[in-house]
Amino acid sequence: MRLKDNYRVGVLGSGKGSNFVALADAVAADPHPPYEIALVLSDVAEAGILIHARNRGIVAEYLAPGPFRTKLDEAAEAAYVAALRKAEVDLVVLAGFMRVLKEQFLSAFTTKVINIHPSLLPSFPGLEAWRQALDHGVKFTGCTVHFVDQGVDTGPIIGQKVVPVIDDDTAGTLHARIQVAEHELYPAVVRALAEGRIAVHGRMTTWRRE
Ligand code: GAR
Repeated sequence: MRLKDNYRVGVLGSGKGSNFVALADAVAADPHPPYEIALVLSDVAEAGILIHARNRGIVAEYLAPGPFRTKLDEAAEAAYVAALRKAEVDLVVLAGFMRVLKEQFLSAFTTKVINIHPSLLPSFPGLEAWRQALDHGVKFTGCTVHFVDQGVDTGPIIGQKVVPVIDDDTAGTLHARIQVAEHELYPAVVRALAEGRIAVHGRMTTWRRE
């Protein structure tokens, strides 16, 4: 058996992969990175995240999600779990993965799955959270990194970043501003988890800075 010498991260995404790029760039820029990205999986064969990963020499696979629109079917969930176990990941990072993960997956990686969501949870869970914020008329929104539980965007919150909504914002400009905040927050959280600086007590988490 291979002796593990580093904290290994598996990334799941369905889209363009800008959060993956932020994570990979943070690893590349660090002379002593506390984690490595071991594997990228996507439920979308042509997703940008797969191309970005392959361009960086990271193993990246499309795994078919099955017939449902918003979740993986049982066989697909088992395939995702098997691939992540084979890659010996310590943490599963959802970076724009647009399907809900069920019990079979979550029990395989208890308190080891995190997600980034483009609002200040518990406001605006679900799809297109930036558009929900704009439609509601809030003056501040942001992004949240949280542990994933059985609900939709309901797990214990690890970190948040506030982003202002400005008068002429469109859905596109607001999402772009939120993404700048995401690209700062997510690498910081993953680094802190890899360094053992985040603890969970029920719904509460603590984050020891450096
Ligand atoms: C991000 O804004 C992320 O917060 C959001 O999808 C985008 C993925 O962008 N996730 C969700 O809405 C999950 N509910 P990316 O592919 O460029 O990282």
